[in-house]
Amino acid sequence: MNEYYPNLFSPIRIGSLTLKNRIMASPISLFDLSPTPEHKHSLNDRLFYRLRACGGASVVTVGDSIVHPGGNTEGFNDNKVNIYMRSSIPYLLDITDEIHRYGAYANIELNHDGIRAAFPGHDAWSASAYERDNGGHVLEMTEEMIEEVVDGFGISARNAKDAGFDMVMIHAGHGWFLGQFLSPFWNHRTDRFGGSIENRARITLMVIDRIRKYCGNSFPIEVRLSGDEAMPDGLPGIDINDAIEFAKLLDRKVDLIHVSAGNNNFDSSEMVTHPSMFLEHGVNVKYAAMIKPHVKTPVVTVGAISDPAMMEDIIARGRADLVSIGRALIADPLLPEKARHGNTGDIRPCLRCWRCLGEACETGALYCSVNPEIGRAFDHFYPLPATSPKTVLIAGGGPGGMQAALTAAKRGHHVILCEKENELGGTIRYCKDISFKKDMDDYREYLVRQVMESGSIEVRLGVTVTPELVREISPDHLIAAIGADPVIPPIPGIEHAQGLLDTYMHRLPVGNRVVIIGGGLSGIEAAIEFAHAGKTPIVLEMSSRYAAGSNIMHGFAMNVEIEKYGIDIRTDTRCTGIAPGKVTCENADGTYELDADTIIYAAGMRARRDETDALRESCFEFESIGDCKKPAQIREAVTGGYFAAMNI
Ligand SMILES: Cc1cc2nc3c(=O)[nH]c(=O)nc-3n(C[C@H](O)[C@H](O)[C@H](O)COP(=O)(O)O)c2cc1C
Repeated sequence: MNEYYPNLFSPIRIGSLTLKNRIMASPISLFDLSPTPEHKHSLNDRLFYRLRACGGASVVTVGDSIVHPGGNTEGFNDNKVNIYMRSSIPYLLDITDEIHRYGAYANIELNHDGIRAAFPGHDAWSASAYERDNGGHVLEMTEEMIEEVVDGFGISARNAKDAGFDMVMIHAGHGWFLGQFLSPFWNHRTDRFGGSIENRARITLMVIDRIRKYCGNSFPIEVRLSGDEAMPDGLPGIDINDAIEFAKLLDRKVDLIHVSAGNNNFDSSEMVTHPSMFLEHGVNVKYAAMIKPHVKTPVVTVGAISDPAMMEDIIARGRADLVSIGRALIADPLLPEKARHGNTGDIRPCLRCWRCLGEACETGALYCSVNPEIGRAFDHFYPLPATSPKTVLIAGGGPGGMQAALTAAKRGHHVILCEKENELGGTIRYCKDISFKKDMDDYREYLVRQVMESGSIEVRLGVTVTPELVREISPDHLIAAIGADPVIPPIPGIEHAQGLLDTYMHRLPVGNRVVIIGGGLSGIEAAIEFAHAGKTPIVLEMSSRYAAGSNIMHGFAMNVEIEKYGIDIRTDTRCTGIAPGKVTCENADGTYELDADTIIYAAGMRARRDETDALRESCFEFESIGDCKKPAQIREAVTGGYFAAMNI
């Protein structure tokens, strides 16, 4: 029995399999994974899943694989696995092998995009006819079409089995194809596939039967469903009562019932699927807990679950039998093993910042703000120790500097980390008092803990690195991570306003009517924070787009809050003057004034270039990283620190 989390690390039988613990690695689709001769999967893809298995999850699920030629979405993620093709087997065998080498079971999600596959020139199939905003047509499926796709699920499951997968997950949630049949919003049929929940669930049950036919009764099947679709504006969708009835229909016909939530066809509902930083941890556990008393089949819960103590509590209290983890295993794939050994403090927290899926949606790459090895897991498995240890001086103890220190020290270098303030953390110290930045604050604490406990990093607080100090220490390498300063916008009367960073860092008072000059990412996040605190923020943004620095997913999450709190954001609006308690604004219609109790500017950051350049000349091997190189986001700082240290 595990002494730290006895329930979490107790085995469980799922059909013919015995899982070593209750932690499953949630399906993650890799956007460059496409097992066709044209798009062979990359080494990165293999190592991504290997890292998830190596970290100790009992089951690792490969995301979204497509079961029928007509079932793939146009656009960003059209490189999904075409599991219906036998030609995918050799590529997938490589991946299942990687998963098996750590004792985990390999699972793959079977899916069809339904309406999401419609685009001009490609008619899609789903429960009922539908015209998409993008001009694509959706055809109502005939019984023959239904039979063809059901068979596609069966064939695909057989291919998966032949590719070494130990089980399959049927995706019947999040508003994809089977979810569209289940949903009263998409399904308007009057035949045996529409109307009652039994009829709407019929196609899923046919899929289960077909997989049994092709793969045998002992091949485990998991069904992923939405416990509540959280549809916007009162639109009809699957609620917990429907979900309970659906689960009862699945009971004992499948081996696992996986209860997620939300609907990926609506931005606000998608924020529930992958709970945003504005939602509490474990926000969807309640749905699994409500379904569990109605079924004998083991139940899985998912959604912003990252704390092993919470996982243990969920299992111990019988709210679910297993937990499934998505992003927290991107931030730290070794989470399960660290928890098993009781090293919870070593778990690198996920920020729920959405850099992973946001980036994947926008560019196809999968990166993480806090884990520089995601996207290059090769470095994890084949670390390069220092061939000749060097003295590395790092100027600046923000996240980039701390990451550089940790990586350099891990590689065997002698590291001196200097921070001009009396504590480590850099600008992310501003998160301390922001409720929805708790994960970021946990990450800061994690980094500080890792640095202070590393035993091989010499930390000097209250020390500014100057060229003189560099010459005195005479390091082999100097890494400058000295950050950036807030830009003070050249607005007449700016002295009557306060900087956002100062407001946070020095806890400056903020009145009820607060005008924020600058609607970039930090200005918008500040407006949300002030709205949460019951204040009335107005944001002035001179360009036509607000929160321009945000990734698409975090943007959706912020929009939910903006709408919920009715936050007043004025784009194409320039602030032309400030007086005590007054802001003058100008837009295409003219000039007007706003009264304000507090005026805050959030006009971006400017790299500390002079200080950086002064240091540049002081050491032959010099590198600048993070905001002092180019102001950006936390991923750039952390990955920059990692690279700089890896290059030594
Ligand atoms: C990068 C990324 C890719 C994902 N791909 C899939 C997928 O292919 N299929 C799926 O059902 N869910 C997918 N998800 C959702 C996760 O499986 C999980 O349900 C969700 O992120 C909530 O769990 P978490 O809060 O632990 O991340 C993806 C999530 C992320 C972050």
